[in-house]
Amino acid sequence: MKMKAAFVTDVGKVSIEEIERPSIRDDEVLIRVRTVGVCGSDLHLFRGTHAFRKPPAILGHEIAGDVVEIGKDVRDIRLGDRVTVEPQYGCRECDFCRQGLVNLCSSKVVPGTAKWIGVFVQYFNAPEKTVYKLNDAVSYEMGTMIEPLAVAVRALRRATVKEKDCVVILGAGTIGLLCLVVAKHLGYRKIVCTDTARFNLDMAIKSGATLALDPLETDVVDAVKKLTGGKGADLALVAAGAANILDQASACVRKHGEIGVIAMITEKIPFYSYQIVFNEQTMYGSMTYATNDFREAADMINSGLDLTDFITQTMDIDHTQEGLDILSQKKEDVVKVMIEL
Ligand SMILES: NC(=O)c1ccc[n+]([C@@H]2O[C@H](COP(=O)([O-])OP(=O)(O)OC[C@H]3O[C@@H](n4cnc5c(N)ncnc54)[C@H](O)[C@@H]3O)[C@@H](O)[C@H]2O)c1
Ligand SMILES: [Zn+2]
Ligand SMILES: [Zn+2]
Repeated sequence: MKMKAAFVTDVGKVSIEEIERPSIRDDEVLIRVRTVGVCGSDLHLFRGTHAFRKPPAILGHEIAGDVVEIGKDVRDIRLGDRVTVEPQYGCRECDFCRQGLVNLCSSKVVPGTAKWIGVFVQYFNAPEKTVYKLNDAVSYEMGTMIEPLAVAVRALRRATVKEKDCVVILGAGTIGLLCLVVAKHLGYRKIVCTDTARFNLDMAIKSGATLALDPLETDVVDAVKKLTGGKGADLALVAAGAANILDQASACVRKHGEIGVIAMITEKIPFYSYQIVFNEQTMYGSMTYATNDFREAADMINSGLDLTDFITQTMDIDHTQEGLDILSQKKEDVVKVMIEL
């Protein structure tokens, strides 16, 4: 049987094509896709700047839908379950898989590659172990938000600082705003967000930020120092790419503070490392999520966390091109674009 799929056929170009529905293995389920999220990380391939992936490809990895078929070895998932998918699985044998760090497995399988179809399709197959049930009260849209929320959960869980006086989040797009939500949840008292777009700054304030600053208008480091009595923030999270962003993060942070880098900055940018040495700061990277982080994000949503405000545009699969263009060119105020099928 045929289904629609949105292919990125060339840099900046999407075409809707009819392809065969995926068949399922014994340990898999088939999901009728209801909503998929357009993600900042989908833009790297769309713009032709991805470190190694090139068109043609079916993008997407944020999904919610209904289970319409189950393989014979599937145990806990039933027909009709409303679900989301952790869009990765590992080899289960390497050192990282053994520690639950699927995100670091060199043989991990992710959607939109030769081994697994992307989610901009009407039907999506997934191994049962990657499937998470949604409570009845959770909308498909919120189910789809579990994946980006898991990115934020990991970024904050990777920090080892004990004090939770102040966190600075550089960039208030989807990921930055979700970091704000998780930081609040974990009990950070002062949360400073930055962004160059007015709409995103307003969204940050609406979502509970203590301060929301445009780095082109305000001296962010100065403002953070004032807010923390001269000390600096305990933690800074980098959720936007800009040439000065690592220096800015480090300058905002106190001695023995930490800097978590989430943004995928694929070109080399300058970095004043002495600042890190002098203040004995620690910098870490945060790559997607481990299964624990995904489960924690799913629990937050299943417990009623509502992120509806972050969904700024919804459209059907035939408008996938428009969805990617809106996010890529920021032609409109945008946080999360949802495709509904
Ligand atoms: N590490 C991971 O696992 C992971 C997962 C998802 C996304 N990402 C990356 O995280 C980054 C953010 O993702 P997103 O989906 O929120 O993207 P986004 O495009 O929605 O958000 C980026 C935001 O940064 C703002 N911005 C631009 N320049 C800025 C500056 N100088 N200072 C502060 N803000 C500025 C933009 O206005 C925008 O709102 C991207 O680089 C993305 O690839 C990483
Ligand atoms: Zn994503
Ligand atoms: Zn592995």
